[in-house]
Amino acid sequence: MRLFVAVDLSEEARAAMAAVQTRIAAALAGGSASLKWVRPEQLHLTLVFLGNVAEARVPAVVEAAGRDVGAAPFDMVLDGVGAFPPRGAPRVLWAGVTEGAAELAAVQRELVTRVTAVGLVVDTRPFHPHLTLGRWRQSSPRDRTRACATGPPNAMARVRVRRTTLYESRLSPSGPTYTALAHANLTA
Ligand code: 2AM
Repeated sequence: MRLFVAVDLSEEARAAMAAVQTRIAAALAGGSASLKWVRPEQLHLTLVFLGNVAEARVPAVVEAAGRDVGAAPFDMVLDGVGAFPPRGAPRVLWAGVTEGAAELAAVQRELVTRVTAVGLVVDTRPFHPHLTLGRWRQSSPRDRTRACATGPPNAMARVRVRRTTLYESRLSPSGPTYTALAHANLTA
């Protein structure tokens, strides 16, 4: 089962990010054919990508990702638009996080510790919190400049982070389907 842990958006933030997608798409006009937008109802900020987890381990992961996290709820501010990788042909168009990045990183570390304790091996690269807005199937370096230049100058959304969600992701040609399996509440 393909699993990941993420922070969900409020409805207001979802609408704000959908508006950002629409604005960038309009600015790119005909030049965005190979940029596939994340559906607004599926927008999320990934904390830990667990990859394919053997069925036998899933109950332990659900338990680990469903326990309260000993941290106070906090605000996360989505601000700015960028692309990964930072040079060459871009693959991912994202919204950045300003306020709340350190708190997200602390929750991310806690979740990594938990899933590692139940035997999973996760990516140990530094955590760069970002909200993926779209993915390029094909691109050139110029696409990064054009997409990022259209980003709004001010904070795009503020989200109160009160919990995390463990998702199962099923991939299909028509796009992924996400199913929530557990929530971990932030309780100071
Ligand atoms: P992304 O937003 O940076 O693309 C569900 O697929 C989530 O898991 C996505 O938000 C995606 O992060 C993340 N993800 C998918 N494949 C991944 C991988 N191989 N390594 C790290 N994260 C991945």
